[in-house]
Amino acid sequence: MGTWTLDDIPWDRFDRSKLDPEMVKVAKAACMVEHHSADYGKYLCGVFHDDPAFCADALAWAEEEVQHGAVLRRYAELADPSFDFDAAFARFVAGHPIDVDASESIRGSRCGELVARCIVEVGTSAYYSALRDAAEEPVFKAICTRIAGDEFRHYKLFYTAMKRYRDSEGLGLLARASVALGRLFESTDDELSYAYHCGAGEPDPYIRRRASRAYAARTLPLYRRDHVQRGVGMTLKAIGIKPHGRLGRIVESLVWRGFSLYARRLARAMAREADETRQSPLRRAPA
Ligand SMILES: [Fe+2]
Ligand SMILES: [Fe+2]
Repeated sequence: MGTWTLDDIPWDRFDRSKLDPEMVKVAKAACMVEHHSADYGKYLCGVFHDDPAFCADALAWAEEEVQHGAVLRRYAELADPSFDFDAAFARFVAGHPIDVDASESIRGSRCGELVARCIVEVGTSAYYSALRDAAEEPVFKAICTRIAGDEFRHYKLFYTAMKRYRDSEGLGLLARASVALGRLFESTDDELSYAYHCGAGEPDPYIRRRASRAYAARTLPLYRRDHVQRGVGMTLKAIGIKPHGRLGRIVESLVWRGFSLYARRLARAMAREADETRQSPLRRAPA
């Protein structure tokens, strides 16, 4: 059971003059990904079928994620009354099915599954914190504040369970690091950019690399160093490395430098591509 409901959101403070169309597209994408979490709850219950206590926690977690979907959907519909959630969500789910009948983790072990879940919550907590701090529209800011708080609690839930399975399964540090890095860089994980594509009503075909780069170019500049720093610390903790030790500080500094460099390069590349697209009809025009 969550700690808040949709009635706790100050909907009457909605200010259309402060609406950022890009944030509305982000809300549409996030509402679909969050809504899809009900299937992840079923998947986790399949993987942890003989652990009823964790299964109950996983179902309660999924309920909270679905609530994130509901609140973001309501916001997206308020900001853009033409948004057709059902059509966009049906298109999204068809392109991103989840195996709800799995009885084993796709990560190879239960500890690995929980490390991967920690990494997902690292991503969502940093994402909503960045959105909260960047948003100017008061209702969206309030929503992101609530959701970010939940995502930090979700991390704690999976981290606590992970420690239990780490001890019983004996998954070593390197194996945990491998799962964490694999989840971070999972090449197939374009869930958010695909949701963005569907939510924005972009026409097919969906070109994964282009859509992922476009989505990253829009969202990466929202992150500040403190968001990245906290995320790196939580990732290291999930692997089993002290975030505030010497190694942790070096990793954090390197990640921030790499992150900033990548974000700047991506922004330049996207600006160049946009320029080329604008100029191409002129180049084709007869002299
Ligand atoms: Fe969520
Ligand atoms: Fe979460």
